[in-house]
Amino acid sequence: MDPHFFTIPYLIKTQLPPLPGTVMRVSALLADLNVSQNAIADAISLDPILSSRILRLANSAVYGLHGTVTNLADAVSTVGNNAISEILLINGVSDAFGRKVLNSEAGKDIWFHLIATGMTASELIRAAGMRGADEAFGCGLLHDIGKLIMLRADTPYYTNLMQRADTEGGQVLIEKLELGFDHAELGAAAAISWGLPHAVVHMIRHHHQPAKATAGVAMAHVLKIADTLVTLKADDGDMNDLYRSDAFVNFGLEQARVEEVWEKVSVKLNEVMGTFS
Ligand SMILES: [Fe+2]
Ligand SMILES: [Fe+2]
Repeated sequence: MDPHFFTIPYLIKTQLPPLPGTVMRVSALLADLNVSQNAIADAISLDPILSSRILRLANSAVYGLHGTVTNLADAVSTVGNNAISEILLINGVSDAFGRKVLNSEAGKDIWFHLIATGMTASELIRAAGMRGADEAFGCGLLHDIGKLIMLRADTPYYTNLMQRADTEGGQVLIEKLELGFDHAELGAAAAISWGLPHAVVHMIRHHHQPAKATAGVAMAHVLKIADTLVTLKADDGDMNDLYRSDAFVNFGLEQARVEEVWEKVSVKLNEVMGTFS
């Protein structure tokens, strides 16, 4: 496809899959404090793939139960509502975009980066004693969704574009030059189209420059820290690039705590990536 035909409205209309109904239904149940775990398990059981992933996760090393959880209701109470909402969203985005996109060479990297950033953002929020770990996970998982949309539209073209950029900033520049918009703008348009909250739209739109966000500002900075941390760990980069950044200094978490967060995320990441492979 000729990249000159890429516009945000065109891509949203032709390349943004709908979020599966299960995500909406189960999210609504999880948000309701009066709903029982059995009701949540019943709603999940309508989606056999999601059910088997939750069972597999409940029996994984993360929860230390090794094969002793055999029914979905027990699995739901073992992993807890936070993990359920994470798996639900990963499952939903994974179903929406499909294995063809996510298993492509570039797709695998983006998908790993998104799950890792979601987990890191929510663990950072917990480590700092802040509220909103679920929201942080969602923002992390979706922040580069614009990349998945472009990859779905034209895999060879966007893979090549990614290969030509050696940094995220470089990639944004190439996108702007060739297409007239970048993946953050496209991702924000996707979040609007999916009916996601205003603050989530803002965080996606400004994830490279969180100071520009006018809604969800604190969370936008946490997302930036998580994004940078995951990128540095994946590339074996110099962690001082993160530790010296304004976002990190303002966040005020000790470096040792950040390493603890990353260790926790790495264990969970292995299990969850295994569940989705
Ligand atoms: Fe990005
Ligand atoms: Fe990113």
